Amino acid sequence: SQQGTLAGIWVNELGSKMVLEPPNAKGEFSGSYLTAVSAAQKPILKSPLVGVQHDPSKEDQPTFGFTVNWAFSDSTTVFVGQRFVDSKGEETLETMWLLREEMDSAGDNWKATRVGTNVFRRE
Ligand code: BTN
Repeated sequence: SQQGTLAGIWVNELGSKMVLEPPNAKGEFSGSYLTAVSAAQKPILKSPLVGVQHDPSKEDQPTFGFTVNWAFSDSTTVFVGQRFVDSKGEETLETMWLLREEMDSAGDNWKATRVGTNVFRRE
């Protein structure tokens, strides 16, 4: 099997779609993210991401993290998660994310971060 690879096309329960490129030997990978939803009042654009996955050559169910640098807003999202493969071979990426919004002043810092979960399946 493709030992723990995250490479491919993934869709989450919101309908957001991401493409992950194969990792290098250090587990570093890049990709792109097309979100289905946005907190910004701007047209959505496909946005770049960079991440790291744990030991790509060893682990079937690796942990990973990646950061999306939104091309159409001033915000940044970090995702952290794990790939799981069930007894039928179905793959899911179980993730949690933090979405950081840009604020005009430190006094607004308290409201700058959203948190949530997403589950991705292969398209
Ligand atoms: C923004 O609102 O400024 C950029 C888009 C943020 C989309 C978020 S990231 C976490 C959650 N999961 C998704 O697929 N989309 C939203």
